[in-house]
Amino acid sequence: SNQRIVVFGSIVQDLVSYTERFPRPGESVRGTLFKAGAGGKGANQAVAAARLGANVAMIGMVGEDMFGDTNIKSLSENGVDASGVVRTNKTHTATATITVNKEAENSIVVTLGANLEMCAEVADRHHELIETSRMVICQGEIDEKGNRRAFEIAKKHGVTTFLNPAPGDANMDKSILEIVDIICTNENEAEFITGIAQNSVEDAEKAARAMLQMGPRHAIVTLGSKGVLLATKDVDGVEHIRVDKVEALDTTGAGDCFCGSLAALLVAGHPISQSVRSAANLAALSVTRQGTQSSYWKIDEIREKHPQFLP
Ligand code: RIB
Ligand code: NA
Repeated sequence: SNQRIVVFGSIVQDLVSYTERFPRPGESVRGTLFKAGAGGKGANQAVAAARLGANVAMIGMVGEDMFGDTNIKSLSENGVDASGVVRTNKTHTATATITVNKEAENSIVVTLGANLEMCAEVADRHHELIETSRMVICQGEIDEKGNRRAFEIAKKHGVTTFLNPAPGDANMDKSILEIVDIICTNENEAEFITGIAQNSVEDAEKAARAMLQMGPRHAIVTLGSKGVLLATKDVDGVEHIRVDKVEALDTTGAGDCFCGSLAALLVAGHPISQSVRSAANLAALSVTRQGTQSSYWKIDEIREKHPQFLP
């Protein structure tokens, strides 16, 4: 249907070890808990949107291995249409070896494997799914030429383009912003894109305004516990949306929860400012639970326990 969100992006097997503190080089520390879970910025965003009740399809790639099986299964179990997930025998399903310390900070090594096969040709092959969707979301964990082609197809058909250029990459081709409707970054990514050093909320406001000059209609900068900034073309000032304080357990994938939730709320027809506020609070809820996708709240639970977080 034309209410569909299509995520053109990464699928990653997350392997998470919880520990008191990060090991130093050459050091071995003992972990307190291990969890394997479905992850990857693309799949995380797809699941976050689907758990809010959105109609979501995923275009992605995995290897012909065990992690490929479980990650496809997890998408389907969360209600995401995974028929656009392709298996390759050329390389492995991506993995993320994640360490979470007791401050709920993480450090991640990601091997992108099959995600790097997500080239322009893959977008072309799935052009119909993109053209008939309402919004396409891309991130920074696949071949950037794939992202560009997905957005080119979308723009030609009036499909809204949403870019979350994460993780930050100093060498990213910034000209893609010319065909982006909504850009969402954290402070680090905002700095890579605009060149404006990020040390304060004011710096982030400057970056949000600078990103608007590069093409998008909306530029959003997430500030962690400090909330979110929203800048909109032809609207004066940058809106600073604050979030309720939460007890953080694991912040991994919170940015993805924000992006996926925001997409779902926008496609459901809610105004941007209300949608950003809701998405920020839902992302905050996700950091109170361990894991990435496994930590995202479902619409029924939110309605029951935190209805005030819905627009
Ligand atoms: O944004 C969080 C995600 O990034 C994790 O799920 C992990 O897969 C990494 O790629
Ligand atoms: Na979490």
